[in-house]
Amino acid sequence: MASLRIWFTLVVQAVLYTTCDALWCNCTTVQCEKSGSQCETDGACMASTSFIDGQEQHIRVCITRDKLEPPGQPFYCLSAEGLLNIHCCYTDFCNSIDLKVPSGYGSAGTWGPVELVAVIAGPVFLLCLLLLVGMFLFQYHQRVYSHRQRLEVEDPSCDHLYLARDKTLQDLIYDLSTSGSGSGLPLFVQRTVARTIVLQEIIGKGRFGEVWRGRWRGGDVAVKIFSSREERSWFREAEIYQTIMLRHENILGFIAADNKDNGTWTQLWLVSDYHEHGSLFDYLNRYSVTIEGMIKLALSAASGLAHLHMEILGTQGKPGIAHRDLKSKNILVKKNCTCAIADLGLAVRHESATDTIDIAPNQRVGTKRYMAPEVLDETINMRHFDSFKCADIYALGLVYWEIARRCNSGGVHEEYQLPYYDLVPSDPSIEEMRKVVCDQKLRPNVPNWWQSYEALRVMGKIMRECWYANGAARLTALRIKKTLSQLSVQEDIKV
Ligand SMILES: *[C@@H]1O[C@H](CO)[C@@H](O)[C@H](O)[C@H]1NC(C)=O
Repeated sequence: MASLRIWFTLVVQAVLYTTCDALWCNCTTVQCEKSGSQCETDGACMASTSFIDGQEQHIRVCITRDKLEPPGQPFYCLSAEGLLNIHCCYTDFCNSIDLKVPSGYGSAGTWGPVELVAVIAGPVFLLCLLLLVGMFLFQYHQRVYSHRQRLEVEDPSCDHLYLARDKTLQDLIYDLSTSGSGSGLPLFVQRTVARTIVLQEIIGKGRFGEVWRGRWRGGDVAVKIFSSREERSWFREAEIYQTIMLRHENILGFIAADNKDNGTWTQLWLVSDYHEHGSLFDYLNRYSVTIEGMIKLALSAASGLAHLHMEILGTQGKPGIAHRDLKSKNILVKKNCTCAIADLGLAVRHESATDTIDIAPNQRVGTKRYMAPEVLDETINMRHFDSFKCADIYALGLVYWEIARRCNSGGVHEEYQLPYYDLVPSDPSIEEMRKVVCDQKLRPNVPNWWQSYEALRVMGKIMRECWYANGAARLTALRIKKTLSQLSVQEDIKV
């Protein structure tokens, strides 16, 4: 193991001396001797302690900011258990400390010739073996994981920093969203959280796999498990959820993504908040809603969608995001009977600087029943990001229709139905949908008696304005949100 230690230290040493500008650190490399054993950096100071041939070695260097990758857990700042104890810090000369000796090397003895041979020959043999295994694994993983850079992390040896025993998930996420370190838990914390979840029961099956209820430190979480074939979907959804500034009370709260390799296959997990009411579809099937309930559901769904669609400029900004698969099954109902938009796996993000969309959007994804007319007849302009937002609004109108039918006003409400239930068979084809929506220009029925209730009248009007054949003529999510806010004030509803 000694030569592995030397190798490790040398790599760290060789790569890490740097040019700097803001932060001063103690420095032990030869290059720093002329500058008084100090160096200056824009990144971090690092101190490491290792054991080499029975000698405790202290190395202090500067690390430039561009080497602090991945954020939250830079590879350069990882200790290697039993080999090397590393500490990165961010104040002047903070790496002046002498770290404790890595565990397993508590006492340094002197070695005789026999040990010396063992110490030299053993590691060389081991190193060759490791290299071979390493090369084999590397080739294998490079093939499988080539597009997974962002989610790939090393072992979580610094967890104790974040995962203090008494912290709940909410505390953790709150800590991080206020510390400004981006849009979610650091990846190694995500992994640790994911690996300490105990799955309880299956609560649904989706396009990409199963959804489970799990327990973590006494709280419920939802775990979406993707089959290994669906790695791209898993990666994409995790990527979208971790878009900076995406967190919103009406968008499903993302907790963690993890890929567990159990040797033969990879288990892909996406962990999120758990909402016991389940989807809006389940909820509307089970319960009718009051006028107040209807407005709360509709307003919260519009708020979530408006936040998703909105582009926020600036360094702490967020890109505009279009959902592309909005439907009552992809919206969850929270305990307080407001909505949380979920299933962002098909979403696209808009880069306004270059006016491009972050993935090549394929033409017809999503659920056929909820496809906008321009998606069904393929006239949608996919170079124009706003087209996708308009298609989302059409689907939102259909969801509103599903909610409004279940509204219990004057003792009357209708049974739950999917949109177009009376016009197309279950699991309709694109062709069947296109005939109804584009050729015959039919839309779900808005009953006349809705006119006698102000809230239902407004809902009916919004729906019609979501369903125009011309996408650009439809309302925006923000407009809908404002109209419904006014309505909730009129109806004296606390939201
Ligand atoms: C680190 O640098 C500071 C300032 O030059 C110095 O006072 C201190 O002794 C140094 N620490 C070590 C361990 O060399």
